[in-house]
Amino acid sequence: CPSDDSSLQSYVVRDDPTNNVPDTIFSKLGMQLHRRNQHPIGILKNAIYEYFDTNFSSKFDKFDDLCPLVSVKQNFDDVLVPTDHVSRSYNDTYYVDSQTVLRCHTSAHQAELLREGHSHFLVTGDVYRRDSIDSTHYPVFHQMEGFRVFSPDEWDASGLDATAFAAEDLKKCLEGLARHLFGAVEMRWIDTYFPFTNPSFELEIYFKEKWLEVLGCCGVTEQEILRRNGRLDNVAWAFGLGLERLAMVLFDIPDIRLFWSTDERFISQFRSGQLGVKFKPLSKYPPCYKDMSFWINEAFTENNLCELIRGVAGDLVEEVSLIDNFTNKKGMTSHCYRIAYRSMERSLTDEEINDLQWNVREQVQSKLNVVLR
Ligand code: PHE
Repeated sequence: CPSDDSSLQSYVVRDDPTNNVPDTIFSKLGMQLHRRNQHPIGILKNAIYEYFDTNFSSKFDKFDDLCPLVSVKQNFDDVLVPTDHVSRSYNDTYYVDSQTVLRCHTSAHQAELLREGHSHFLVTGDVYRRDSIDSTHYPVFHQMEGFRVFSPDEWDASGLDATAFAAEDLKKCLEGLARHLFGAVEMRWIDTYFPFTNPSFELEIYFKEKWLEVLGCCGVTEQEILRRNGRLDNVAWAFGLGLERLAMVLFDIPDIRLFWSTDERFISQFRSGQLGVKFKPLSKYPPCYKDMSFWINEAFTENNLCELIRGVAGDLVEEVSLIDNFTNKKGMTSHCYRIAYRSMERSLTDEEINDLQWNVREQVQSKLNVVLR
């Protein structure tokens, strides 16, 4: 799998009938924002690397150019995602063909790296998910996976059982990372569920008077994953961090679309190695709201609608929200969506917005087969 954008894009064949990757997403393949040292995502990646380099005696192996195209097996089966789990659906995941997806998490690489013999590793990469549209969701974002394997002598000495030992070590590691990035902050642990870890947790931090879920998801790796990959006698922990959400908080970046901006007024505010420089917002241009109501059909999903709108308006769409929803006596359901159009770089003209909205209305009818009201 070639890593730079032009060769990666020409390497992918998209003529499979099951392919659901639109051009807007395809064009992001190989951009690798996380490998740019002057970009907030790259600066954050390097700051996390620094924490792992200075606080642990065993070195973590680092990977940041593993191919984002992975098999269904790597993305789901290898990490024990049940066959009927929603994340496998075409509504949630981008399929290039029936056996190949754009990875929806960096956990897709756990099994192969374990089989290659790595026992401490960090994997950073672009991940892809079909989703709704607002200031914190974008169909391409970046994650960092951490993984650490322990051998019996490590927990034997502690007096704890293997799982409790790994859970405790994991919590210490992420609490330390939170302090490295945010300084002294209040934190709390929430129990959660993932198919590949048990127990599973999320760390929240109290920052600017709010509890934020920015320090990721983690847990003690399911024994089955270790067993299948030649680590029967071990125990391990894993975490997955979403880098955009963290960077938005650390750099005060108000909208996730900005990470993709090529505007000098954005790019030039960041320097390699400088975490936490506060972003000075570009002058805000006014948003323009357009409402659209239609009768939905059984096949309708909000993800399909959002992708269609992004296909027409690109990064000019800021938010799509459902503002009204009712079912009439005949059982027909109507949805009304409000679309916020706004550029971060310039004022949009009425004419331009009307054109976009007209195109959206037309495509909603022709491609989603809904009936406009
Ligand atoms: N892969 C999970 C996700 O993207 C995050 C995760 C990673 C959770 C590792 C637990 C352990 O949602």
